[in-house]
Amino acid sequence: MDTGGQYCHLIARKVRELGVSSEVFPSEARLESLCHARGIVISGGPASVYDPHSPSMDAAVLSAGVPTLGICYGQQLITQLLGGEVRKGDKGEFGLAFLDIQASDSRLLAGLTDHQKIWMSHRDLVAVPPPGFRVLATTSTCSTAAIEDPARRLYGVQFHPEVVHTTEGARILENFLFGICGCDKDWNPSDRIAQVEEQVRERAGDRNVFFFVSGGVDSTVAFTLCLAALGSERVCGVYVDTGLMREGETEFVEQTFAALGHGVVQIERAEEEFLAPLEGVHEPELKRHIIGEQFVKVQERIMAARGLADGRWILGQGTIYPDTIESGGTSSHQSGRDQSKAATIKTHHNRVPGIQKLMEQGLIVEPLADFYKDEVREIGREMGLSAALLDRHPFPGPGLAIRCLCSAEEHPVTRVPEGWLVPVHSVGVQGDSRSYAPVLAIDAFPSAAARLQDEATELVNRSAGVNRVMARVAAREPLSHQRVFSSYITHGRLALLRRADGIVRDLCFKSGFDAKVWQFPVILIPLGSGESRDSVVLRPIFSVDGMTADSVTMPDDLLRKMAAELLEITEIAGVYYDLTHKPPGTIEWE
Ligand code: XMP
Repeated sequence: MDTGGQYCHLIARKVRELGVSSEVFPSEARLESLCHARGIVISGGPASVYDPHSPSMDAAVLSAGVPTLGICYGQQLITQLLGGEVRKGDKGEFGLAFLDIQASDSRLLAGLTDHQKIWMSHRDLVAVPPPGFRVLATTSTCSTAAIEDPARRLYGVQFHPEVVHTTEGARILENFLFGICGCDKDWNPSDRIAQVEEQVRERAGDRNVFFFVSGGVDSTVAFTLCLAALGSERVCGVYVDTGLMREGETEFVEQTFAALGHGVVQIERAEEEFLAPLEGVHEPELKRHIIGEQFVKVQERIMAARGLADGRWILGQGTIYPDTIESGGTSSHQSGRDQSKAATIKTHHNRVPGIQKLMEQGLIVEPLADFYKDEVREIGREMGLSAALLDRHPFPGPGLAIRCLCSAEEHPVTRVPEGWLVPVHSVGVQGDSRSYAPVLAIDAFPSAAARLQDEATELVNRSAGVNRVMARVAAREPLSHQRVFSSYITHGRLALLRRADGIVRDLCFKSGFDAKVWQFPVILIPLGSGESRDSVVLRPIFSVDGMTADSVTMPDDLLRKMAAELLEITEIAGVYYDLTHKPPGTIEWE
């Protein structure tokens, strides 16, 4: 049951991965529509149960004898409805934490050792469990990290067993599904390609599909699925060079699609169409909206020019599941049932109003909208796409525009007890909500990065005003001499970012570090002094599905080499290393 959490569908998917079929319902679903359920999981969410319009549920569900597990907000909702007490904690807990299990006889925690690594993302907590419940486990800041009332078959956990960072999370879900609900393994994921192709044919009807491909994994796999479902006469692909691509990208795309032999992908150059409306824009959501809407305009122009606007074409997109959740949009448009209520962290370019309108008219097909990145790669592999393509790092649709940070005004950096407060704002995700805050720069050379990364989470939790921490790797001047310049997206800054990104990518490939990370964004921030008005932030991360991520420790020699090469460029004032996990940061800065 969806209470608006970023991870709601992740829970559904984890359950399917364990071999049990699952469906997502709005949390308010009535007991009557849930009669067939063997068990119920209530997701986490960004609201507070005591807020007036926060998501609630039919209390009758909790007395129906159906085993129910509340996760995070779900646990708090059970508590509130059954007469316990929920309140705001003294401090938030975002990221890694340790669980101490007191009740090893609980079926929910069966087979787990007493001390467990878990993932937390909350501020509210259960202060007093409802009558009849007992506490199973605690953390240093939460005395009700797991609770149960086995007689009523009700369970609650404050942490997130569905994310990979909770080491024994899958075991806890298995305990619930098989030990408590008594489910059978009856779900087989190997039928999914045939199912998706059938969905594409159904959605398209007698219409054809027009597709923007980016050269990335998602759009290529989605495009290939459409080709397989409808045949090359009915599918038309266009690659748009937005002027926001990385070095050599257009050439890579030309070669890839030529080699794939599809021959149905055409290249469209539209740099000025994207760059002109971005002039003077610094706000990330505005950038995202402008780019998304430009894609719609370019699409309309191309379709009109090629006589495709005759009502016989619909638009295909490579949207994957996390894109829809973090845009706070709807998901599973094909089933129409599970309207996701997640908070908007970032609006993805394929969820802007122009696209939403097409979706409402049934003019969009998104074969991968229910899948996560690792599943998309798996599907691509099953369809015979090359590893060179499938192993590429993800690259965001809005491209370098969201890695080229801007500032409307000039600002000094200020000294704070923990380091330097740099007023370049970036997006974060804390307790399922979006944050937009300055970054804390610390002066330590990150050779002890692993330790610093844990400290970074602590620092963000502790110092209210920031959502990200970066370490200074090398700089021309000390931070006290630097400031944030008024800065926008220009041809010059894009060229600078492209060059810096090219250097980092090249060294990554040569050293083999490329294969050790999930993604390695390179970000340009308007921090510097004198003629050197920009700095580069390195953001190597590891992730499984993009929903959570770890900042990755880089080998010292590679880091030094990168910094030295980058500082050879006179416009670059310094090189920094982003130490923030997700949450509390996001992978991209905007
Ligand atoms: P964040 O920054 O939200 O990113 O932690 C999660 C993953 O999504 C990618 N990303 C995007 N992909 N369109 C995309 O196709 C977008 O607008 C977009 N924004 C972020 C990001 O690179 C990371 O892999």
